[in-house]
Amino acid sequence: MPATSTIDPPPVPRGLKGVQVADTAIGDVRGLEGFYHYRQYNAVEIAERLTFEDAWHLLVDGDLPTAPQRERFAAEVAELRILPDAVRRVLPVIAGAAAPGSLAALRSALSVLAVAEQFRPSLDATPAELRRDGLRMSAVTPTVNAALYRLGRGEEPIEPRPDLGHCANYLYMLTGEEADPARVRAIEAYMTSTIEHGFNASTFTARVVTSTGADAGSAVVAALGSLSGPLHGGAPSRALDTLDAIGTPDRAAGWIRDAVANGQRIMGFGHPVYKTDDPRSVLLRQIARQIGGPLAEFAEQVEQITLDTLAELKPGQRIRTNVEFYAGVVMELCGLPRELFTPTFAASRVVGWCAHILEQAADDRIIRPSARYVGPAAPVPLPAYSLDSSAA
Ligand SMILES: CC(C)(COP(=O)(O)OP(=O)(O)OC[C@H]1O[C@@H](n2cnc3c(N)ncnc32)[C@H](O)[C@@H]1OP(=O)(O)O)[C@@H](O)C(=O)NCCC(=O)NCCS
Repeated sequence: MPATSTIDPPPVPRGLKGVQVADTAIGDVRGLEGFYHYRQYNAVEIAERLTFEDAWHLLVDGDLPTAPQRERFAAEVAELRILPDAVRRVLPVIAGAAAPGSLAALRSALSVLAVAEQFRPSLDATPAELRRDGLRMSAVTPTVNAALYRLGRGEEPIEPRPDLGHCANYLYMLTGEEADPARVRAIEAYMTSTIEHGFNASTFTARVVTSTGADAGSAVVAALGSLSGPLHGGAPSRALDTLDAIGTPDRAAGWIRDAVANGQRIMGFGHPVYKTDDPRSVLLRQIARQIGGPLAEFAEQVEQITLDTLAELKPGQRIRTNVEFYAGVVMELCGLPRELFTPTFAASRVVGWCAHILEQAADDRIIRPSARYVGPAAPVPLPAYSLDSSAA
């Protein structure tokens, strides 16, 4: 057997950057143009003009709903918001054990849901069953987020209301009061704009797990694990922490210079795919501006100073504002507590994961890439160990 290969395979792009790993009809991100779409529609237009449920229907069922479908779909998912008893019982334990707002708490609760409702492996489940499991997890996520938040503060969870839209009901379950329609609309636009965004790490994770024929619960729980990493889902509250640390506009340039000199990344800026304006940040800046107030104004001032300073310190890198900067600002302006920023992002993205789970299962092939072996040439004869340690 030869000790070395005569063929030298090409190096693997780090992080699989730019490698196409599947076909999808769910959507795409065109980074150089600053454009992304859900199916064939501009995602920003959907976020501006339609409801969260409309986008959900588009991704999961393949098309925008007609008027009767819209009503039926809204009623179908509203019914799925209610927590099963098995989850209700464990939530206080989870809330007591987990850090406030941690995705680990949400993933533990959804795992119990999938067990309690006996989700079947995607290999055995019918498309209708798999769709229903996906709708169930997506519908229940805001209920779990709100209940965990309240339990963590020593308050009783609030039952979901079927007469409210998905996002209005989410805000309602946090306080027990209907939120102001402008705030609901702002959160709905944010959550709709983040449902889906190409083959990011968590979406890819959901597809890999589904490709093994595992159940939708396993795929969503794994995706949540992936989203919990600070490089993926953790930046919106960190971006706001940066604004707090800067304090006043006159301190911004100095603060950014010091941070970059110390090798830090400025949260809410830069993107692996977008090399021009992130269309989600443009949308959310506009929403923050409409709501107005000192935080919105301060954020715009700091944004401009940061962009100018980064352009000077990192010439040629084309670092722009990403979705996380204004996501944090909009959520804060709408009264969402900071610890719910990342779980709220998850409540949106779970819908995208479930669309990918359905697409993967509909035309499945186990995802099993290979790695380029870069260790010592093999085989090398084993050292003379014996199974009998006393013989040594
Ligand atoms: C998102 C992110 C990981 C993308 O990184 P990327 O496009 O792969 O860029 P790289 O990591 O290759 O960095 C390229 C250069 O730009 C710099 N850079 C990129 N983003 C930066 C930021 N936010 N602040 C300061 N410098 C930054 C890097 O330091 C590097 O500079 P160098 O070549 O002098 O070392 C990165 O921009 C980042 O860490 N941003 C902050 C975290 C954040 O907002 N995450 C949410 C993303 S939606």
